[in-house]
Amino acid sequence: LKARVGIVGAGPAGLMLSHLLAQAGIESIVVEKRDYHTIRTTHRAGILEHGSVRMLTEGGVSNRVLTDGHRHDGIDLRFGGASHRIDFQDLVGESVWLYPQNEVFVDLAAARERDSGDVRWAVSDTEVLDLSSDTPKIRFTDAEGAVFEVHCDILVGADGSQGICRRAIPAGQRRENFIEYPFAWFGILTEAPPSAPELIYTNSGRGFALISQRSQTIQRMYFQADPDENPDDWSEEQIWDELQRRVDGPDGFELKRGPIFEKTLLKFRSYVCEPLRYGKMFLAGDAGHTVPPTGAKGLNLALADVQVLFEAVESLYATGKTNLLDGYSERALARVWRAQNFSYWMTSMLHTRADASPFERKRALGELAGVVASRHGSAYLAEAYTGWPATTSK
Ligand code: DHB
Repeated sequence: LKARVGIVGAGPAGLMLSHLLAQAGIESIVVEKRDYHTIRTTHRAGILEHGSVRMLTEGGVSNRVLTDGHRHDGIDLRFGGASHRIDFQDLVGESVWLYPQNEVFVDLAAARERDSGDVRWAVSDTEVLDLSSDTPKIRFTDAEGAVFEVHCDILVGADGSQGICRRAIPAGQRRENFIEYPFAWFGILTEAPPSAPELIYTNSGRGFALISQRSQTIQRMYFQADPDENPDDWSEEQIWDELQRRVDGPDGFELKRGPIFEKTLLKFRSYVCEPLRYGKMFLAGDAGHTVPPTGAKGLNLALADVQVLFEAVESLYATGKTNLLDGYSERALARVWRAQNFSYWMTSMLHTRADASPFERKRALGELAGVVASRHGSAYLAEAYTGWPATTSK
């Protein structure tokens, strides 16, 4: 098989890149080890920055985010038992959209199908070869057991944090930056009406909780938990009581309860691989970096990488010049590090380590109080949460 661009991974990053390339007349082949249904039903985050929404709508993928998603003009920061609204529209004139990543995936896969894109699902034994040659290759076995090799000009690793592409970079050619956190998120999906009009991020004496949403009838909530907690050990009542305790306050705020139909534990860390390139292979999205979930930057960052990478590949075929491709890693990483800082900041400000001293607990509350009392502090949060322009340079 031959393609100008070979893409490993048909998550949002790989599919969006393939879509943008197709629109520019550059053909690509995408290979993915999971089947469509598995990705479709894997629960991920639910918040899209305005720039991500624009990529989907103005990029010709789908307008469904505008009809089926919900615009959110702010969030609530809750601490000391009281809620403080961060008004994105007032502070920075932007919004985010509540639209689950599964739906982004459905829209992108449908757009590839509609435009006769070449996406191979459920492949196995994927290998990337000859990365520093002029013709990097993807070898894989398809769902029927036939072995193929994709010969391409450019190979893109969009295969997530557990993928093969990053690991194919020789150890001496990449720097790995990471930190781990001593907690995880216990996530649930429940059949209940929304408890509040907007998302609530809360720092309570018992740790963090996030009251998010999916629709008028399905809600998504998370609470900080021990990394080796087993969700099956928790009854519905225990989960609801724990969530409620974390939002309790003198205002009498009460969560609207319902049956819980999904429980998962999310472990998280901060990670950046540098550079996002080895020879003719370029990394995009979680394949190159991971953020903790607080602030929902993962998918948005992946799409921002793809925008930058697309422009670089398009420029290569339009001009024959590699300067944008050569600058991809640096340009993408400038945004990645901003988002790393934002996600780390939100995480550390809102979570409580089990061994935190009274000083550390109160310092975090002082930080939150400072953010909500300051228009400048709130505006930084609003700007970062709703998303920086894709073209952000250093
Ligand atoms: C969701 C997840 C997040 O990490 C976040 O910051 C906001 C929302 C979600 O899954 O709804």
